[in-house]
Amino acid sequence: MKGSDRLRRLASYAFVAVLAMAVVACNEAHPNSTLDPHTDLGREIDFLWNRLLLLGTIVFVLVEVVLIYVVFRYRRRENQEMPPQTHGSTRLEIAWTLIPAVILVFIAVPTVRTIFITQAHAAPGSLNIEVTGHQWWWEFRYPDYGVTTANEIYIPAGRTVNFRLRSADVIHSFWAPELGGKRDVVTNRTNYMWYTPDSSISSNVWNGFCAEYCGASHANMRFRVFTVTRQQFESWVAGQKLPARFGAAVSAAPTAGTQSGYIFPREQVPDYAVPHSPIPSGLKFTPGLTGNAQRGLKVFTSSACIGCHAIAGNPMAMGTTGPNLTHVGSRLTIAAGRFPNAAAYLALWIKNARAMKPEIIMPTLGVDEYDPVLKTKVTAATGGLTDQQIADIVAYLTALK
Ligand code: CUA
Repeated sequence: MKGSDRLRRLASYAFVAVLAMAVVACNEAHPNSTLDPHTDLGREIDFLWNRLLLLGTIVFVLVEVVLIYVVFRYRRRENQEMPPQTHGSTRLEIAWTLIPAVILVFIAVPTVRTIFITQAHAAPGSLNIEVTGHQWWWEFRYPDYGVTTANEIYIPAGRTVNFRLRSADVIHSFWAPELGGKRDVVTNRTNYMWYTPDSSISSNVWNGFCAEYCGASHANMRFRVFTVTRQQFESWVAGQKLPARFGAAVSAAPTAGTQSGYIFPREQVPDYAVPHSPIPSGLKFTPGLTGNAQRGLKVFTSSACIGCHAIAGNPMAMGTTGPNLTHVGSRLTIAAGRFPNAAAYLALWIKNARAMKPEIIMPTLGVDEYDPVLKTKVTAATGGLTDQQIADIVAYLTALK
């Protein structure tokens, strides 16, 4: 094959590749893109990225054009004499030292400026949220309101949120790409990050991720951010502050499942925020079982659940190893965003969480289920729960809105 043929062929491959990338890039909405920020912090970082990309592209194109020109213009030809040999050129060396120095100034000034902005303290009056990374879920506390929740946060658009980031175990990283900013969540250290969601996104859901490899279920350590109006946020907080309504209802009127505060309407949740993880094969649940929330409360309170989970309003449930379940019924997802919060998934989750999400602390609870961590079968003697008991717990938890 002649050299020019090969070149032409390579060029056509490159053209097809670039075209494919362009088509993919323009194809549809990208719900997890960090290049489309909706906060002040996100835009600062985006500005810096665009500046670096622009300067880098200019330098790249100039260098490549000169390089390719020189390669072809001065390539070795037949019967050519050895060209005159030179050593050094002071003028040239001064030029290629000064030009990069000037370019670096245009990079360094905005970089340092952005570093100062992103490291500054949040403005007074910001909404504080304490974030604790766990293997493999997110604990969220609103210290100003006394609210504890997990894997899902509501924040009012237009108000600055100040995240206080800590880890209960290994290093994680807190990142909701569309809101901008990614910050590590480090053991024995408190990191901060703040941003103000645009007022224009007051009715949206955003995906969040753990962005630092933290073990077997790192990919299953997700969260959701709901950006809502101030009124909706106040209403949500008011609801979340209340103890579990079902717990209160045990001795009072049966108001099980009554929604206390604002909850983002499920039908308005965009598809990208709904989990689509498949159920592991071999995991089955007796069809057609109806749970009873009153019975579920009893089973929950007399089983291993209370050792790890807290439910405000259920004085027996005080555990802190797992997510706080006070208003678990109001959440969109379970298992740190891995599955939808629906009875069918919740039942399988309680039955064999370790089969649903690798290597987690939550034990396998279904009787006769195989625990993939302990590598034994769960029996009634070790506290295994029947499908009916699990259905009852599901009814109880689902009622905790
Ligand atoms: Cu937590 Cu990766």
